[in-house]
Order: sequence, then C-alpha cells, then structure tokens
Amino acid sequence: MAIRRICKYGEKILHRKTRKVSFDELKKDLPALLADMFETMDAVGGIGLAANQIGLSLRLAAIKIKREDAEPVSIVIINPEIVEKTGSLYEEEGCLSFPGLFAKVRRAAKVKVRALNEKGLPIEINAEGLFAKALQHEMDHLDGIVFIDHLPLMSRLKLKPTLVKLKARWKKLDESKMKPM
Ligand code: CO
Repeated sequence: MAIRRICKYGEKILHRKTRKVSFDELKKDLPALLADMFETMDAVGGIGLAANQIGLSLRLAAIKIKREDAEPVSIVIINPEIVEKTGSLYEEEGCLSFPGLFAKVRRAAKVKVRALNEKGLPIEINAEGLFAKALQHEMDHLDGIVFIDHLPLMSRLKLKPTLVKLKARWKKLDESKMKPM
C-alpha cells in the first residue's frame, strides 16, 4: 500500500471528464488501487476521493464516512450515475484538491445512485445528508467538475487572490515532500 499524491486545483486531470471503467480490464489492479485510495484518504483525513484526484482518468471513487448517528460508510463506486435527486442543502464543503479552502455549495439533500461495487456487482445507493453530499462531490470530480465551479461568478472572482496564495503554499508542500530525508 502507498499514500498517493493528491492533484491540486489547476492540474488538468481534475478538470477533465474521466473515462468509463471496463471492470474486466481493471479488476487485476483494482484491489491495490483501492487500498491506496483508502490509505491516502485516511492519511489526510478525507471522506471521499475520486480516481482523477490521484492522477488516474477512471470513473471510480471511494467514500469513507464515520457517523455518530448511523453506521459508518465505506464504499467504492465504479461508473456511478445519479438516477434521482430530491431536496436541497446549502452547506460548507472542502476538497482534498483544495487544502485550506471551504465554501458553501448547494446540493441535493437526497440522491439515488447506481454503480458497480469493488466486486463489479451492480449496487443502488440511497443516501442523504453528508453521504449524499459526498456522492455528489465525488461524482462531480469524475465529470471534471470541482466544488468551486458551483459558486456564482462573483464568489469565484472574490476567491481568486485566496487561490493564488493557496497554490503557492501547495507548491511548497509538494517540494518539501520531495526533498531527501
Ligand atoms: Co473533492
């Protein structure tokens, strides 16, 4: 297992739609890839990670949420599609590709998602609250959409100076990690 580097805002792979997965072609490499994805999420305290966030154009994502009032969620979604959306939420979100940035985003409150699981079997997920938000956030990633793309134009413009500063910080972090111990 290995912790993968997470691509940051501005890297092209984050802003491109991912390729649909052929489960048969991927299944040999899938267990190691998923182990890395979960390990990477754990290392940085994330609740969701899309394959293109670690540089792979594959329509798959992993979600792991600890919940006080319900069973923990640990799920892999391959080639997911949202088939139903209801209600509305307007809550703060963050993203592993934007460390240090948070913004309020409007999402559906409940979603129904169809996907394949890590065994290649079709699953249907009914989610609400944080789980529903995470599914929508990760599926956006798979379509090349990042959370700030949902903000109104004026809010995005106001964020620009903050993003410039954050990008400089992310670059330093990446460089410091590359130095030999
Ligand atoms: Co994200």
